[in-house]
Amino acid sequence: MTKINSINRTSLMPNYAPASFIPVKGKKSVLWDEQGKDYIDFGGGIAVTCLGHSHPQLNKVLKEQSKKLWHVSNYLYNKPALELSKMLADKTFADKVFFSNSGNEANEAAIKLARKYYFDQGKPEKHEIIVFTNAFHGRSMLNITAGDSKFQKTGFGPLLQGFKRAKFNDLNSVKKVVSKKTAAIFVEPILGESGIIRAENPFLEGLRKLANEKDCLLIFDEVQSGIGRTGTLMTYMGYGVKPDISTLAKGLGGGIPIGATLTTGKIAKAFQPGTHGSTFGGNPLACEVAKKVVEIVSSQKVLKGVMKKTFNFHEKLNKLSEKYNLFEDVRSAGLWICCDFKKIKAKDFIDACYKKGLILVQAAGEKTIRIAPSLIISEKEIEEGFKRFEKAVKALK
Ligand SMILES: Cc1ncc(COP(=O)(O)O)c(C=O)c1O
Repeated sequence: MTKINSINRTSLMPNYAPASFIPVKGKKSVLWDEQGKDYIDFGGGIAVTCLGHSHPQLNKVLKEQSKKLWHVSNYLYNKPALELSKMLADKTFADKVFFSNSGNEANEAAIKLARKYYFDQGKPEKHEIIVFTNAFHGRSMLNITAGDSKFQKTGFGPLLQGFKRAKFNDLNSVKKVVSKKTAAIFVEPILGESGIIRAENPFLEGLRKLANEKDCLLIFDEVQSGIGRTGTLMTYMGYGVKPDISTLAKGLGGGIPIGATLTTGKIAKAFQPGTHGSTFGGNPLACEVAKKVVEIVSSQKVLKGVMKKTFNFHEKLNKLSEKYNLFEDVRSAGLWICCDFKKIKAKDFIDACYKKGLILVQAAGEKTIRIAPSLIISEKEIEEGFKRFEKAVKALK
């Protein structure tokens, strides 16, 4: 039998820079590599494995569904997709849902929907999208256009047309670019890749008011912030500001690929048969797993647990910071935490953590690390993770 560690890694394109070890098994918040070494998972696959690894209930529904039906195409209904759409509609501002496979695709549907909504009203001139500084929406042509990273755009032009950029958390800058041509304001309620930076309440409230006044749509990208990550099922709920369209992906499948674009019944009418689609979007396997994820994450036990655990992470990070003079800043929105080191480079720290058996994720900024663990990570796992965190700090001192 071919040994796993003999796999030729060079057949993959070089667009990622993965760690040198290969995880082969996961349970709860622990991963094991091919040598049997264990790692506490504080990264959660970048805010994806919101119920950890090998969750027994997710395994069960996946296994059961795998024996029933995998794919039928969107020419036919499938029950898991119908049921998941109903669940999301019941639990959120939305009436209608379009399913896809990723955050990129969910955003693509959102922007197409906004433009088509106004086109159908006889207002094709309303096609501009207002986007923000420090935004990240994914790596498709649409999403690098909407995002604010020069690096991510370099070499990929020409980009898409009809985008205006305003300053995040600066309502006046939005007022300067909004016009009769604006179809939508497209924003992450909390900037994720840029380091957990919250929209201030008056900013989001102001965007809502402005969108109503100027007759344009408010779109929230909740691809990373949604599904319990910030202590409510969706982040807009904590703000009390409802969008017209919102996108979900990462946590929604707990590790199985799925994206969703949520909207109201009125706006959804713009997507008549044939106007938009996705071969795999809404496939029964992914939807059946996502149904269970939404059911579990929506429980008060899990959502209250997020806030309790957030406090625990903060306390431990602050203690370590005091002891070793570590951080310039620690920011969080629920179990979504960023720490800016004073001196240490994030990459060096993450490598040191790998050696000690802990997984963390980098965020924008050379000295910023991100923690986005399972929402149900245990106290014991947190405790053990921090022992390893401290060992990594000592190794670099
Ligand atoms: C806010 C946000 N939007 C969109 C995306 C893109 O999602 P995906 O990689 O699933 O296409 C990401 C991914 O990190 C994200 O954080």
